[in-house]
Amino acid sequence: MTSIVNVGLGARSYDIHIGNGLIDQSAQLLGAMLGSRRPIIITDTHVAQAQLPRLQRALGGDSHALILPAGETTKSWQYLEQLTDELLDLGVERGDKLIALGGGVIGDLVGFAASIVKRGCGFIQVPTSLLAMVDSSVGGKTAINVRAGKNLIGSFHQPAMVMIDPSVLDTLPDRQMRAGYAEIVKYGLINDAHFFEWCESHAKQVLARNPEALTTAIAHSVRTKADIVAADERETKDQRALLNLGHTFGHALEADTGFSETLFHGEAVAAGMALAFGYSAASGRCAADAAVRVRAHLEAIGLPASLSAAHVKGTGTDLVAHMLHDKKMAGGTLPFILAQGIGQSYVDRTVQLAEIAKFLDGSRG
Ligand code: GLY
Repeated sequence: MTSIVNVGLGARSYDIHIGNGLIDQSAQLLGAMLGSRRPIIITDTHVAQAQLPRLQRALGGDSHALILPAGETTKSWQYLEQLTDELLDLGVERGDKLIALGGGVIGDLVGFAASIVKRGCGFIQVPTSLLAMVDSSVGGKTAINVRAGKNLIGSFHQPAMVMIDPSVLDTLPDRQMRAGYAEIVKYGLINDAHFFEWCESHAKQVLARNPEALTTAIAHSVRTKADIVAADERETKDQRALLNLGHTFGHALEADTGFSETLFHGEAVAAGMALAFGYSAASGRCAADAAVRVRAHLEAIGLPASLSAAHVKGTGTDLVAHMLHDKKMAGGTLPFILAQGIGQSYVDRTVQLAEIAKFLDGSRG
C-alpha cells in the first residue's frame, strides 16, 4: 500500500510518498528529479550502516555519500561549514537535489545547507526515524543549533519530495519509536478526536511496527501536517502554532535535563502534552477527564507524562525561566497551546507564567 500526500504550496508544492519498501524503488521515484547528475546522499554514521547501502543499491550507478557524525551536535556551524564546503568541492549545482537520509538532525542540517549553497538548491527528505517521518521531514523549517539556543539560525526551505519507507524502522530502538509516536498522538490532540481514539486502540500495533497500522498512522500524521503547513507556511497565523502543542512545556523539560539522552525530544513533547492538558483542566479550560485520558494513554505505552517520569528536577520557577528563552515569546507574552478538550487545542495568549510555575509545583503531588 503506497499513499501520496501533497503539500499544496503553489510553486513550492511537493509530494510525500509513504510505503513499505519504497527505498528499493528509489531509481523510479527519484530518477526524474535527479536527472543524469550523480546523486549526493548526506547521512550520519548510524544510518550509513543500517540504510545507506540499500539506498545506493536502489539508485544504481555511482552516488556520492557524505557521512557526518550521528547526534544533535552535528546541527552546528562547524558541520554546516564542513557540509557546504564538501558540496561545493563536489560541484553542486542549483538544479541538484541533495538527498537527506536520516533523522531530524540530518534533515534540518541538509535542508539548511540546501537553502544557502549557491543561494539555494533542492533537497529530498528520506527520513529514517519515526519522529522525522511524522514531523521534521515535512514543513520546510530548517535550522542549526547555536550558542544562544536550539534551532535559532535557519530558514524556510521546502523539500522537493519526501520519501517515507516505514520498513527502515525495523532497526530503530523501541525507545525512539515511542518518542516518535508522541508526535503522532499530537495530531489527534490538536484537532482530531477520532484519530486520538484510533491511537488509543492501535498504539501497540504501531509500536510493534505492524506495517498497516504504521503506514496508516504516518499517512494520517503527514496529511494533517501538510494541511496545516499549506494553510500557514511561515507560522504567521495561529494554525501552524498548534503544532507546538506540548513543545513549550517540553522545551523547558529538555532544558532542565540538559538536552540529553535522559529525555528525548519526543518524550519531552509527551510529558509537555500531558502538562498542557493538565494545566488546561486545572485552570477550568477543559474537563478533568480529558486530561486524565491523555495522561493514561501516554503512560500505557511507556511515555513520560509527569515531571518525575521525565526525570525533571527543577522547580516551577526554574522551568518557567527556561520558557522565557522561547523563540515564540512576543511582546513579553508567551503563547501557550492549551485545550478545551481532546482535539480542541488552541493558542492562548492570556497565560500568566507565575500561574504555570504554581501549577508545575502542584503537579508533583
Ligand atoms: N521541518 C520541520 C517543520 O517544518 O516543521
